Amino acid sequence: MENNTTVAEKTAPERKKRIFSAIQPSGQMTLGNYLGAIRNWVTLQDEFDCIYATANLHAITVRQDPKKLKENTTNLFALLIAAGVDPEKCIFFHQSQVSAHAELSWVLSTYTQFGELSRMTQFKDKSAKHADNINAGLFTYPALMAADILLYQADMVPVGADQKQHLELTRNVAERFNGIYGNTFVVPEPYITKTAARVMSLLDPSKKMSKSDPNTKSFILMVDEPATIMKKFRSAVTDSEASVRYAEGKDGINNLMEIYAACTGKTFEQIEDEFRGKGYGDFKTAVGEAVVAQLEPIQIRYKELIKDRKYLDELSRKGAENAARIAKRTIDKVYKKVGLVR
Ligand code: TRP
Repeated sequence: MENNTTVAEKTAPERKKRIFSAIQPSGQMTLGNYLGAIRNWVTLQDEFDCIYATANLHAITVRQDPKKLKENTTNLFALLIAAGVDPEKCIFFHQSQVSAHAELSWVLSTYTQFGELSRMTQFKDKSAKHADNINAGLFTYPALMAADILLYQADMVPVGADQKQHLELTRNVAERFNGIYGNTFVVPEPYITKTAARVMSLLDPSKKMSKSDPNTKSFILMVDEPATIMKKFRSAVTDSEASVRYAEGKDGINNLMEIYAACTGKTFEQIEDEFRGKGYGDFKTAVGEAVVAQLEPIQIRYKELIKDRKYLDELSRKGAENAARIAKRTIDKVYKKVGLVR
């Protein structure tokens, strides 16, 4: 008894909060993905116990070319490592490498109601976009996401606005399960970062930057050549006022200021001072250069890393082994509670 207390007292304050997050390998990452999410992953791994995955099981809810999916998955893994995700500091793997994700997803889907899933705005959007393939997996997508998070007993999940509803559902499912079977899952909190930038389209700054925009000038890819990046910023939409200041009705300039601030750490005030009396041309050049300064070192490391796919596979396998060990504790507990023969 005395011994137990000592152990508890020693370990409790030392235990870092656990974070889980995943990104779908659905092609190229944009500057928006980088400044909004990826860079955040890198920061979080110093402070928290982070578990990260590529969400390749989620990716197949829309039709994929098998070869491309595999390639995209490994490329994303490499890109994230190039961006600073460090397999020495966090657990990083592919969702498909740990079968407990699929197992728990099935169980949780029986504790998730048709009505709840029907209310998911992402499901409504995606079924409108892929009207010829509204499959069951697209519908139960949030149960798999809940499994990702709950398997690792994550305390927090960094989420953007588009995934908030899924996290809310995860919390409801966890609470429901805990209510029936007693404490089984940690109920995860959203982790909101102040530093994550919301990057808008360079051509229509009322819309989020998206790689599925038919006009490639509207987005910056993380792997875009420096010259391409400069060119895209030069053609970014601004306004006719010719004054670099953050204000309502200046969506284009506001977006460029947001990007510049995110890349340089400068405040809007400092940026306004820096470009007082200068034209938009100078400003756009500075923004382009700041973005290139962020992305170019990542691109160099990325090109190096993707040469060695065996090494990348090894890294992900090691991550998956560590993930599976943690996941097993949860899935064993869940199967036992539900009454499933092991
Ligand atoms: N659905 C998320 C997206 O498309 C990716 C994802 C899968 C995820 N599992 C997750 C995000 C668990 C956070 C936690 O962006």
